[in-house]
Amino acid sequence: MHQTHNTLSENIRTQSIELLNKHLAAAIDLHAQMKQAHWNVRGPGFMAIHELFDKVAGDVESYSDLIAERAAALGGTANGTVQVAAERSFLIPYPLDIADERQHVFAVSEALAGFGESVREAIGQATAFGDADTADLFTEISRGIDQQLWFVESHAAPR
Ligand SMILES: [Fe+2]
Repeated sequence: MHQTHNTLSENIRTQSIELLNKHLAAAIDLHAQMKQAHWNVRGPGFMAIHELFDKVAGDVESYSDLIAERAAALGGTANGTVQVAAERSFLIPYPLDIADERQHVFAVSEALAGFGESVREAIGQATAFGDADTADLFTEISRGIDQQLWFVESHAAPR
């Protein structure tokens, strides 16, 4: 733990840093999963879905940055290498053997929903141990993930 004038107690900051690093690993994994979908999707709606997945990947990458910088701001170390992310991510592995746009829309929706569920839990956890700012950060991310899930799921609307 690095020295800081931040008046949040070390006990609270330690819990926040742990919660942030857990979600940093998953966010880095999620970003790569969105890129996997962006690169491999095929189907009649290719261009719209290909570009949407890239937009989602970009937003998820910005969440990694928010999460990592909050951990650093609290005096912690952000563990943000791909190697650490691969070890610690709680996400289900993204399927490598799919191409059809409906399968990718489903897989991306599942990945976003899984990450979103954990982020929503993190809001409550951070609130409970007394870090309203980390709860606010997770709230912002949760709202973004919900919107991205809506955009992606709207491509799976009944025809
Ligand atoms: Fe691209």
